[in-house]
Amino acid sequence: MACVCCESVVIFLLLALGFSGVVCNGGDSALSERSSRSLLQNGLGMTPPMGWNSWNHFQCDINENIIKETADALVSTGFKDLGYEYVNIDDCWGEFKRAENGKLVPNASTFPSGIKALADYVHSKGLKLGIYSDAGYYTCAKAQPGSLGYEQLDADTFAEWEVDYLKYDNCNTDGSKPEARYPIMRDALLKTGRPIFYSLCEWGVDQPATWGGKVGNSWRTTKDINNTWDSISSRADLNNRWADYAGPGGWNDPDMLEVGNGNVSREEYRSHFSLWALMKAPLLIGCDVRSMSSGTRDILGNAEVIAVNQDPLGVQGKKVTKYKQLEVWAGPLSDNRVAVILWNRSETRAMITALWEKIGLDPEEEVKVRNLWKHRTEAGTHKGKLTASVKPHAVKMYILTKIHQ
Ligand code: GLA
Repeated sequence: MACVCCESVVIFLLLALGFSGVVCNGGDSALSERSSRSLLQNGLGMTPPMGWNSWNHFQCDINENIIKETADALVSTGFKDLGYEYVNIDDCWGEFKRAENGKLVPNASTFPSGIKALADYVHSKGLKLGIYSDAGYYTCAKAQPGSLGYEQLDADTFAEWEVDYLKYDNCNTDGSKPEARYPIMRDALLKTGRPIFYSLCEWGVDQPATWGGKVGNSWRTTKDINNTWDSISSRADLNNRWADYAGPGGWNDPDMLEVGNGNVSREEYRSHFSLWALMKAPLLIGCDVRSMSSGTRDILGNAEVIAVNQDPLGVQGKKVTKYKQLEVWAGPLSDNRVAVILWNRSETRAMITALWEKIGLDPEEEVKVRNLWKHRTEAGTHKGKLTASVKPHAVKMYILTKIHQ
């Protein structure tokens, strides 16, 4: 496609993305697709959101102390400084009935101080607070009130509480299409005047990648993840299908991270985190950050992998080669760099090769190779291909930088 993207590029630049000189390359379908989107105008999500969410580890067993202690832990572990900023309460924070004035009410025994006090606490730590509601009559887990029919009142309440992020689920609806229901809350949130990150959680049922950019800052592309290798791997595949629809302002969401929840090996969790980072997925931690092992910290705290996720170019990396269970995933980064993952999904150690022509490099291009898990720049330069031996269920992840720019 020719450079029809220029007008939108100007808009992106005005949105302070700061990556002039890398966008108008015309031949990249992802960029062309992205630049013709009309984005939700709340200015949020210019890079994928980072933070924590209560659901994967705690499900309904939550209270305000857990939220506060999690905020404390994000600060004390240094994770806040790495970019993890949202502290998101999932389902089960509310009373079963609305107040007489129709407002949602925090559960009196588990959130006795109320959500505004919690927001104040979280903000005092330099973090942001997220909350959960549902685009139906009741939420998913315990049938607390949903926001259908109460969108403006609930959006106003969230804004009054100084909430910064809304995850909006899709249970117990009136049967209408998500594409019709989700914009109602978008408009209500915009009307409050408070910038609230809008996370669409309709599990990919209505192909939200095709309309989500106009409605939300992220959209789930899959049903719920669970803490198993199969679930994690299959979510990566499902999310990959929609890669061309992601970009600054709106991201595909293959669900929250399971890293640190046990039962899955360290190599598998490393694969999980690497793929989510490359796919520009929201990096929402799903374990108990108050008691993370050092192994979990090393994975979630890998600043070099996080930097791939937060790269200002904002192009979702994709699966580019598959030979049996050996795969290469790759995507462009700012400053003409390329991120590459060699992923061994098989049960035995194997050699995997990334060919330049498959990952967007000229075969003659000479590059320096940075290994993001070893934190090591490899000796010498590479031309044409990169081959490595990869353990079962493991990844190797690299950034390739051209020698001659
Ligand atoms: C749905 C969502 C999950 C979680 C639960 C809460 O299943 O997809 O992420 O929010 O509801 O009940």
